[in-house]
Amino acid sequence: MEEWLAAQFVSGYAEYDPTDRTFWLSEEQAAVLADDSTPAFLVGAQTITAALWKDEARIRDAFRSGKGVGWHEHDHDLFHGTEKLFKPGYLGNLVSTWIPALDGVEAKLRSGAKVADIGCGHGSSTILLANEYPNSEITGFDYHAVSIDEARTRAAWAGMGDRVDFEVASAQDFPGTGYDLVCIFDALHDMGDPIGAAAHIRASLADDGTWLLVEPMAVAGLENNVNPVSRIFYAGSVGICTPAAQAQSGGYALGNQVSDSAWSQLLGQVGFSRFRRASENPFNRVFEVSR
Ligand SMILES: C[S@@+](CC[C@H](N)C(=O)[O-])C[C@H]1O[C@@H](n2cnc3c(N)ncnc32)[C@H](O)[C@@H]1O
Repeated sequence: MEEWLAAQFVSGYAEYDPTDRTFWLSEEQAAVLADDSTPAFLVGAQTITAALWKDEARIRDAFRSGKGVGWHEHDHDLFHGTEKLFKPGYLGNLVSTWIPALDGVEAKLRSGAKVADIGCGHGSSTILLANEYPNSEITGFDYHAVSIDEARTRAAWAGMGDRVDFEVASAQDFPGTGYDLVCIFDALHDMGDPIGAAAHIRASLADDGTWLLVEPMAVAGLENNVNPVSRIFYAGSVGICTPAAQAQSGGYALGNQVSDSAWSQLLGQVGFSRFRRASENPFNRVFEVSR
């Protein structure tokens, strides 16, 4: 154990006092490495990195063939790491900041709205919404059946099994119409057919419905994205997001650093007339999209 602690100290991940040979975490180190209730918690990124190493041969082949690697083809560490990495951000921002930043959506959710969370993965955002807005009818959809099974388990663990539904369906064909709110958290850029997804979402929304689209932070111009957050995101985009989109039909592989104007142009193609950045933080851009 002491050897492991020494390795953490010399790497800058822990503090050390040689007088009594004690180790501890500073507040900042604890936020990033030990406290999964803070949006700064980044341990999930390491679990994702573990998946990338396990999947290296497959990713290398995909570089050669151009055929991509489907999200579902990755090691389970990717699904668990993604949950671990993103959930603290949802806990810290979704209910307190992102929903209130959308025009009129919070009031609808409180009184009872119909909501779809598309590409929900293990369902952390879906369960959070269902917990906060008990009068609303909330369904999480994902094309990956294994993730949907995990999401149902998470809901049961949270005592929310009867308050939230999870169904296997893709963004391009999920069931239902008249949604007051459709959400996509960090998944649209993973799709080979984001246009098909956007068109289907538009058709599924109520006339005054809202699409909450969360995408990784990025600014226009590659040269303006030289920072630690973009380093993480671009690395993930190379090994995960871009190959995932290549593995789907549709012909798009946008990567996870799509600019606001590119999204606006793309969503405008299917008839959405309103697109605005409603909120942001160092990791996320939060867009409000409507007819
Ligand atoms: C980066 S993960 C995000 C998961 C979840 N939204 C979260 O924030 O934890 C991307 C998710 O999109 C899902 N996905 C990819 N393509 C999809 C599609 N065409 N239709 C539905 N889900 C899709 C994947 O299965 C995966 O769960």
